[in-house]
Amino acid sequence: MPTRAQVAVAELLAAKEMVLVCGSGGTGKTTIAAALGARAAATVGGRVLVLTVDPARRLATALGVGQFGNTEVRVPDEAFAAAGVKPRGEMWVAMLDTKAGWDELVRRHAPDAKLREQVLANPLYRNITSRFVHSHDYIAMERLHELHASGSYDLVIIDTPPSRNALDLLDAPGRMRDFFGSRLLRWLTVPYRSRLFTMASKPFYQVADRVLGSRFLQDIAEFFILFQAMEPGFVARAKEVERLLTDQRTTFVIVSTLEAAPAHEARFLAEALASRHMSLGALVLNRTLPASIRASSATKAANELRDVADGARLTKQLAKDSAGSVDPAASPSEVRDVLIEIAERFHDTAIVAAREADRRRELAAVAPIIVDTPTMRDDIHDIAGLLELGAYLL
Ligand SMILES: Nc1ncnc2c1ncn2[C@@H]1O[C@H](COP(=O)(O)OP(=O)(O)O)[C@@H](O)[C@H]1O
Ligand SMILES: [Mg+2]
Repeated sequence: MPTRAQVAVAELLAAKEMVLVCGSGGTGKTTIAAALGARAAATVGGRVLVLTVDPARRLATALGVGQFGNTEVRVPDEAFAAAGVKPRGEMWVAMLDTKAGWDELVRRHAPDAKLREQVLANPLYRNITSRFVHSHDYIAMERLHELHASGSYDLVIIDTPPSRNALDLLDAPGRMRDFFGSRLLRWLTVPYRSRLFTMASKPFYQVADRVLGSRFLQDIAEFFILFQAMEPGFVARAKEVERLLTDQRTTFVIVSTLEAAPAHEARFLAEALASRHMSLGALVLNRTLPASIRASSATKAANELRDVADGARLTKQLAKDSAGSVDPAASPSEVRDVLIEIAERFHDTAIVAAREADRRRELAAVAPIIVDTPTMRDDIHDIAGLLELGAYLL
């Protein structure tokens, strides 16, 4: 039986068209985004696209996005069949390629072909696009906008880039807009616009060029002048992308663990979304300990294990069972030590579980829906693994 929260997540994905999966890095964002997509394609239906940012290599290979590229690929039905599932819809995946994303923007916003080629060929542009601070965040959203607007997908789920501050993501379109309208950009382009200034600074340019290599400063100035020519397009687009974040069809899913730092960050992010009128759809608490561990009966069971570990019958039996086809069996006293160790460690785990429960309660106050996903036994690197995890989500 699905829980109420799992039903609510299924309804959320059926109702929304764009899902931004965000939260601290390393909490399982990429995995959860892919699991949401696989499960939605399997059970909700429609054309579902997952835009991943940094999938683990084995997952990327399994999904068929082994090579970097902006193009979307369909996960073949055979991959679902291998997991014993006939999907109701289609699952598509694409990888975020920041460089290709920038080129695409330039192609769109350059007023003419000549300027376009000049920008794309500018050495500084080529160097800078991969380093543009936070440009990952912006390009990710830009891609989301583009893929959604293409009308090819019923649902686009986007895994967001790891960033130091969760707000970077929400602020990315505004920052892009500001950059193009900024005084910094104007100032940087002034020397080449103003003849007087050029004359005055000529010796400086000559020296600098000699030190930095010929054309270095010209490249910089040219770069910013070219960029300024694209300002209207970029600014209008950034505004559109920004509007997307508060669109009715958009929702955010925060992924967190119940460790102190990510949980704190998740709460902060949930509050930031609320204050910006952005919709928080659900909170996924990944790798949480099962509630059963907190039960007093579990503590009793651990104490019991501690006691029976000293008994000869159990340790003898386990020692016998531990023999492999090649490995020799453990001795009963080794088995005893292992059991005692496990039984005593259990109390630490129970303390962690209790702490997790406290944090979960705090987070419940800021999230409309909470779903928990356990730590899976095996590494998640194929559709079967994603579907198994996804079954906890919706
Ligand atoms: N619930 C889970 N159970 C088992 N392994 C998980 C789980 N969630 C994530 N992982 C593993 O943890 C690693 C990091 O996950 P990933 O999704 O790449 O994190 P993030 O995108 O937040 O940095 C991956 O190897 C992934 O397979
Ligand atoms: Mg990731």
